[in-house]
Amino acid sequence: MTSAFPMPEELVVAGGRPLRGTVRMPGCKGISHRALLLAALAEGRSRVTGAASAADVASTLGLISALGVRIAPGGDTLDSHSPGADGLVEPARIVDCANSGSTMRMGAGLVAGRPFLTVLAGDESLSRRPMRRVVDPLRAMGAAVDGRAGGELAPLVIRGGALDGVRHDLAVASGQVKTALVLAGLQARGTTEIREPAASRDHTERMLEALGAPVDRIDARTLRVGPGRLLPFEMTVPGDPSSAAFVIVAATLVPGSEVTIEAMSLNPGRIAFLDLLRSMGAVLEVRPAGEELGEPVGDVTVRAAPLRAARIPASEAIIDELPVLAVAAAFAEGITEITGAAELAVKESDRIASVAATLRAFGVGVETAPDGLAVRGGRPRPATVDSHGDHRIALAGAVAALACDGESRIRDWPAVSVSYPQFERDVEALRRGA
Ligand code: S3P
Repeated sequence: MTSAFPMPEELVVAGGRPLRGTVRMPGCKGISHRALLLAALAEGRSRVTGAASAADVASTLGLISALGVRIAPGGDTLDSHSPGADGLVEPARIVDCANSGSTMRMGAGLVAGRPFLTVLAGDESLSRRPMRRVVDPLRAMGAAVDGRAGGELAPLVIRGGALDGVRHDLAVASGQVKTALVLAGLQARGTTEIREPAASRDHTERMLEALGAPVDRIDARTLRVGPGRLLPFEMTVPGDPSSAAFVIVAATLVPGSEVTIEAMSLNPGRIAFLDLLRSMGAVLEVRPAGEELGEPVGDVTVRAAPLRAARIPASEAIIDELPVLAVAAAFAEGITEITGAAELAVKESDRIASVAATLRAFGVGVETAPDGLAVRGGRPRPATVDSHGDHRIALAGAVAALACDGESRIRDWPAVSVSYPQFERDVEALRRGA
């Protein structure tokens, strides 16, 4: 995996040193993907500043470039020149989505509206992840979509065009699938209605509303999308709350820490983990500071504090933070139960198994169930752990390591490139600030 940030194969962490100072997260990954995909549909020049320099976002850049969008990077700003939806071209080669579920699933919705063939492939992890949740609804709109195992697994082969708006009653709540269907709906004839079993993250709706696109929220779980052309736009991507969660938990756990995260997304569907950490005893201050294309943005300050166990019911609003919340639980007083989290098993790794393996290596008592974990809090000891090729497991291991006295090692560390390549640099700066 290549990255602008030099990265050892194995991260060595000497734990126990406080983190102090101010830091900015990489641009929110979810918003970065969406901004680039919307820019591809909007004829003309869109400017996206602060998009994550993460490998996942590079995959989406690769997809829109293959579709004929010209990207001119200039420092932290990406200038995207799109010929507009009707001018997009058939990719000459298989599009490599690498590890990025968002590129594949959201991208499938974008290309389903185009009258040409697109093949979306991914790495080993992505090739194991469920795709029928996006394939079936796109088929219902008239796209010809195939994939391994009858369309359940990538590579996906999509011949799009001439979509009809339909009413979708989705079996799984998923921000990625909803976004795919919105992107398809904007290109379809008639109205597309998307009904989810639970509300998923709403970045796409917020951005489209801010752009004046034909998107109506009927209620928290139902969305209506009409056909429409998008106008080009400019935006600065707020910091990623899911990346911030790692720094926030580390600062909570290491005595003497005090960290401010600047300009992060305060989207209510993304910061539920802050309330959960508060219920465990974390000391957090949230200061809203404005909006960016419909996204609330602000600063969060965290101070070290002892934690107690909690009951954590998983939801779409908290799923990506569960690995690091499990680390918080490992240092808390009592037994924390994470429930309703079956989706964890089909993320970049089986995160029920990989979180349990990571915490057990640190000497933590963990029990697993098909839909969750029970974590016995205590005094974890330094360990050598593996990322399981999963960025959030690598980062969760690093946070546990920062909070232990002594030296730990995280193997296959470059997995962090997927979402937070500058984690080591940020932590070093914060430890120097102490
Ligand atoms: C995402 C939605 C979630 C999340 C993923 C990003 C998004 O996935 O886990 O990291 O940006 O919409 P699902 O759509 O599979 O729930």
